[in-house]
Amino acid sequence: MKRPDNRIRPSEITPPEVYFDRRQMMALGLASLAAGGIAGRRALAAEAGNASTILAARYKAARNTKLSIASTPNTYEAITTYNNFYEFGTDKSDPSQNAREFRTTPWNVEIGGECEVKGSFTLEDILKPVTFEERVYRLRCVEAWSMVIPWVGFPLADLIKRFKPTSKAKHVEFTTLLDRQQMPGQRYRVLDWPYVEGLRMDEAMHPLTFMVVGVYGRILPNQNGAPLRLVTPWKYGFKNIKSIVRIRFVEKQPLNSWQVAAPNEYGYYANVNPKVDHPRWSQATERRIGGSLFAQRSATEMFNGYAEQVASLYAGMDLTRNF
Ligand code: MTE
Repeated sequence: MKRPDNRIRPSEITPPEVYFDRRQMMALGLASLAAGGIAGRRALAAEAGNASTILAARYKAARNTKLSIASTPNTYEAITTYNNFYEFGTDKSDPSQNAREFRTTPWNVEIGGECEVKGSFTLEDILKPVTFEERVYRLRCVEAWSMVIPWVGFPLADLIKRFKPTSKAKHVEFTTLLDRQQMPGQRYRVLDWPYVEGLRMDEAMHPLTFMVVGVYGRILPNQNGAPLRLVTPWKYGFKNIKSIVRIRFVEKQPLNSWQVAAPNEYGYYANVNPKVDHPRWSQATERRIGGSLFAQRSATEMFNGYAEQVASLYAGMDLTRNF
């Protein structure tokens, strides 16, 4: 299905400098220029385009113990070599192989739709005022496997507030980069590219909803969705859209890519629910990645173990119909 062109017109764009203070960034650049002639200028060029470099020290963020689970995380190796990122291939090992050369600098995120502050923002604009934290979250993939991952990021709610959504904003729509040159998987019609996901406004504003920029205290590897991806731990992993280039506030419920591909198999809500099976397999149990092949499967928990925090969002809703 062809999606409408949602790009905002130049006349709608408000210059980011009106909203974000660039002085500190400038100071950083000038200092490095003064420090060392051509080498300094090269360093500046690298730094200026690379939010990750500038912000690297901040990726070693303190753990938010209240919002972290106590389980031991999977290894860095497992988290960065067993991936779903169809833009780089459909095998679990494809993304770590094929995303090596993926360029994430410079990176811009377009903000639009039903909000007062809109336009094209650099990753630096997005990240500069943010305080990072580490959260150890369970990830439950719709394919009935799971992992435990120490993400580094910040609450999506903090970002949303800066763009002042209007009362018409009922959902938030996220879009991944579309670039057939760099993302070989997009040359095949496995999905209707670019990858799109959405959250209802109250889900997006929930304190558990996390924008991720790192893992294990390091900059997010390309295969995990660099430089900016979403994580909603009570939903199936496909909601966790990677390499985001556009965030739009919308009135109508967006069509997410997996729902478009197979509407009888994947819904909009995608809340982890052991009682609602996928048409082709059970969701009652899961296999923890990294365990022994003979390890017992464990029982999948309602809302992936986050029921206490999120069940109230769905009070009165039929979760069998709204899967
Ligand atoms: N985002 C994009 N753009 N493309 C994808 O194919 N796969 C999703 C999600 N985000 C996907 C995506 C699925 S199915 C899962 S399980 C998680 O990313 C996997 O995240 P991870 O590889 O960091 O564990």
